[in-house]
Parts: sequence; C-alpha cells; structure tokens
Amino acid sequence: MIIKKTPAEIEKMRAAGAVLARCIKEIADGIVPGKTTTLDIDVMAEELIRKYKAIGSFKNYRGYPNTVCVAVNEEVVHGIPGARVVFPGDIVGIDLGVIVDGWHCDSAITVAVGGEVSPEAGALLKVTKEALHKGIEQARPGNRLSDIGHAIQSYVEKRGYSVVRDLVGHGIGRSLHEEPNVPNFGRPGKGVRLEEGMTLAIEPMVNIGGFAVETLRDNWTVVTKDRSLSAHFEHTVAITKNGPDILTMAPVEEA
Ligand code: MF3
Ligand code: CO
Repeated sequence: MIIKKTPAEIEKMRAAGAVLARCIKEIADGIVPGKTTTLDIDVMAEELIRKYKAIGSFKNYRGYPNTVCVAVNEEVVHGIPGARVVFPGDIVGIDLGVIVDGWHCDSAITVAVGGEVSPEAGALLKVTKEALHKGIEQARPGNRLSDIGHAIQSYVEKRGYSVVRDLVGHGIGRSLHEEPNVPNFGRPGKGVRLEEGMTLAIEPMVNIGGFAVETLRDNWTVVTKDRSLSAHFEHTVAITKNGPDILTMAPVEEA
C-alpha cells in the first residue's frame, strides 16, 4: 500500500530534508583529500546528525553497521565506512538518511575529491545528477510510476552510460522504505498512477561500463561487475498538484 502524506506531513518531511541536505553538504566540504578515510566520513555524519538533533536512519537498518553509506569509484552503493583514504581524483558517493520528529528523508550525492577529476568521471557525475532531475520532473499527478524510470534510463543511455537495475528507489515517510519501488529504467506509462501526497526517494545509479553489479563478501558493498566507475544521486521528492517538490534541499540552495 502506498501511504500518501498530507501537506502538514510533507512539511515535517521537509524539515528532515533540510537537516539532511545540510549534513551532506558539510560532510562533502569536510573531506580532506589524501587524509580523510571513509570512516572519518561516518564520524562526520554522526556528529552532524547530533548537532542538528536528528537521528540517523541507516544504522542497524537490516544490520547495516554505520551511519552513512560511502561508495568510492567502482562502488555503486552501500559501501561500509572503513580505513580507506580518499584521494584527489576519486569519486565518493555519500548516501545518508535522517529522521526528524518521526519523519524520514533520504538523499545522496557523488563528489569529486579535491574538486579534481578525470574528464570521464566528471561527465559521469554530471549525467547522473541530470538524470535524477529528469526523473524528478516526471513525479507529477497523472503520470505513471514508470515514467520516472523511463526518463532516467533514456537520458542516461542516450549518452552511452548504463543504469543499474538491481537496486531501485522507494517510497519514504514514517519508514525509510515504503511502497512503491521506484526503478530507474523501464517502459513509459506503466505502474501506478502518481498522485498528490506520494513521497518518493528517487535514486539513479549510473555506470560508465555495463549495468551489472555484484555484492562484495562484506554482504553490503555493491560494485560494478566490470569495475567501471559508478555514480549515485538521490533526492526525496513529494508529488504535489503543482508537480514535484524536492524535500532534501538546504534552504537557499540549488539542487
Ligand atoms: N539510500 C539507500 C536506500 O535507500 C541506503 C539504505 S541502505 C542501509 O536503500 F541499509 F544502509 F540503510
Ligand atoms: Co534510498
């Protein structure tokens, strides 16, 4: 069952989203190339969540051991923080969920460490972020669920990249994961009709190589099968009568 939210509930989710956006931005700004480890990123996330009086939603979720998921280079998602140092030229996915006043928001960005990145990696980041926004544009009443994934997939594949199939976005609200699943691929015009009050975490994962992924022996870290670079961007979005409303943005900031 898809749980629709009232405008007042959406405002509560927006409060969580504003905190989350700030946390993610401050984490990204706190990375010191050649020094910061992925575990340092986790510590930053914990401290920021505490500073904003929120609760992290990933820790202990299905046994996930940390606060944030950190995915470096060929890692797609669900990377477990550890001793790995991130260097200039690496791309690092920062995926975080928080709860404020009982309401969840979930968001992710992928950043170039030190601002330095190969042209290939830079183009991947740009296409993935743009693909997220192409999907978000479709999150409006009257469209169907698969219009979101179709917009993402066509944007990505037209540019020669591939979209991960094995992991999908999701409904979100009082729980981190609610119905429906939100694939980043598919034929248009399929699935449930989108309605005002639905809240979705839309999260394309885009690879330079093939779309196939595999999970490492830690049972969490998802990597590309061909070890090509992968990027991930995610926003929590409310469907309103006027169209999509991105909840995971810091006030006075662009997407
Ligand atoms: N953003 C991811 C998702 O929506 C991360 C959750 S995985 C967790 O599924 F286990 F770490 F929580
Ligand atoms: Co998510």
